[in-house]
Amino acid sequence: MKRKTMLLSMLTAGMLIAGNLFMTSCTKEGPAGPAGQDGTNGTNGTDGTTSCIVCHSDDQSIFSKEIQWANSQHGVGLNFERSEGECAVCHTSQGFLGDLDGSYDWTVAGAKIDNPNPQNCYTCHKIHDTYTAADLALTVTGPVALRNTGGTHDFGKGSLCASCHQGRTVEPFPVAGGPDITVTSSRYGVHHGPQANAYAGVGKGLFEVGGGLVNSAHSTMIGDACVTCHMGEAYGVQAGGHTMWMGYDYHGSTVLNTSSCEVSGCHEGEDVQALTEEFQGEIATLLADLKLKLDATGITAAGSDNSVNGTYSGLVAGACLDYKALTEDKSLGVHNPKYIKKLLENLNEAL
Ligand code: HEC
Ligand code: HEC
Ligand code: HEC
Ligand code: HEC
Ligand code: HEC
Repeated sequence: MKRKTMLLSMLTAGMLIAGNLFMTSCTKEGPAGPAGQDGTNGTNGTDGTTSCIVCHSDDQSIFSKEIQWANSQHGVGLNFERSEGECAVCHTSQGFLGDLDGSYDWTVAGAKIDNPNPQNCYTCHKIHDTYTAADLALTVTGPVALRNTGGTHDFGKGSLCASCHQGRTVEPFPVAGGPDITVTSSRYGVHHGPQANAYAGVGKGLFEVGGGLVNSAHSTMIGDACVTCHMGEAYGVQAGGHTMWMGYDYHGSTVLNTSSCEVSGCHEGEDVQALTEEFQGEIATLLADLKLKLDATGITAAGSDNSVNGTYSGLVAGACLDYKALTEDKSLGVHNPKYIKKLLENLNEAL
């Protein structure tokens, strides 16, 4: 009752105001304006919100992606502070999109992104471009240019990931038996996150030496590459989905999210976690052996992965580059088992 009375008085007040406006306009009426546009020129002529509802409904699907993302490294990482020059292309959302459409030219001196955002919904999807379901489309599709090879590789839906998760350019790129390389930085190498190069494998941006290098089934058979494994069925907000993590904690032990491995034609019926841990152990040993050999050349020192400035043979510089890249790859060989194992064996033999 009380609400009704209030509504009534509001209505009355509204009518009074309207009346006043009407009276004012009576006395000062000018010529009629041009005809307005018809309704078909709006977002949607029949109902402006119908296309919004595909995403903004009550099915909670957007919210689930948001909480998963919020627990991903994209969501929690602070490295989007690297918002200058080329760094901004992979580390900020605006720099990435600007590089794609040409509006951010990182080669211009002083290039910088103001109010940087980390990788988010707008980085990977075309959110609020057409305001329809089509906006879930990915911002990168088709083959991706790999900075270190001048070539391209198609990672399916994973091409989006590979755009950033790849090595940076190294000039000159070391060649075994080629010219000596002068190392001038403790950070010599391809930078963090060269997963796309390790995954694409043979001839795709790592330093190679010796024969017998072939790609494994992970590299050749998984159509959507990174997306298939890292965005498998979500385990809460710890792994899979938009968290993009591979492992989660279950009562104190780390479990590998194998939801997309144990499928027909792949690892159906196998103990993928045990298989992975055993293989990762072998790769860790090969990496440790390589490190000792690098320390012996002087390009690295015991207890640190930093490179030591100096002039080294193409082989030594290349082996150091690979050691860092395959450590920073963080999969301990899983991204391309046959290739990574053979490459490490070859490097150890050559040194
Ligand atoms: C393809 C899916 C999709 C469609 C279609 C879509 N939205 Fe959104 N919208 C999103 C997502 C995802 C977010 C969350 C983005 C974020 O976290 O900032 C969002 C956020 C919003 C917000 C919160 C403010 C903001 O920008 O973060 C408003 C308001 C909004 N949308 C309105 C609309 C309207 C109005 C329409 C239709 C004309 C529409 N949206 C259509 C996906 C969509
Ligand atoms: C716009 C560039 C960009 C794109 C696209 C991108 N990433 Fe990332 N990713 C990053 C950066 C930068 C970080 C580190 C963020 C930080 O620490 O601030 C990261 C972190 C990660 C991590 C955590 C790494 C760690 O060990 O801390 C995973 C896993 C990951 N990304 C997977 C993916 C997958 C899978 C895709 C594709 C679906 C993808 N990323 C797309 C730039 C990108
Ligand atoms: C080609 C894309 C790319 C470019 C360009 C790039 N980064 Fe990164 N960076 C990444 C990715 C991807 C990661 C996350 C790798 C991971 O955790 O696996 C990363 C990680 C980092 C980290 C975190 C390392 C750690 O172990 O926590 C720092 C710091 C960083 N980058 C600094 C820079 C700076 C400074 C620049 C510019 C000089 C730069 N990056 C340019 C892709 C890039
Ligand atoms: C690093 C890139 C990346 C980010 C950031 C990202 N997404 Fe996605 N998203 C993807 C990829 C790749 C897929 C396709 C997954 C697949 O096909 O299995 C996807 C799928 C989706 C889908 C399902 C689409 C469908 O066709 O079923 C929705 C909904 C979605 N994302 C919403 C979001 C929202 C909301 C955010 C922000 C909170 C977000 N995404 C952030 C890469 C990303
Ligand atoms: C065959 C499945 C598979 C594919 C395909 C795959 N990854 Fe991974 N990735 C893994 C596994 C397994 C790990 C190691 C997880 C662990 O040991 O905790 C890993 C580790 C990583 C990490 C370190 C962070 C983490 O979760 O430990 C990043 C970043 C990453 N992968 C990115 C990528 C990118 C980018 C691609 C595509 C170029 C890709 N991955 C393709 C399975 C895969």
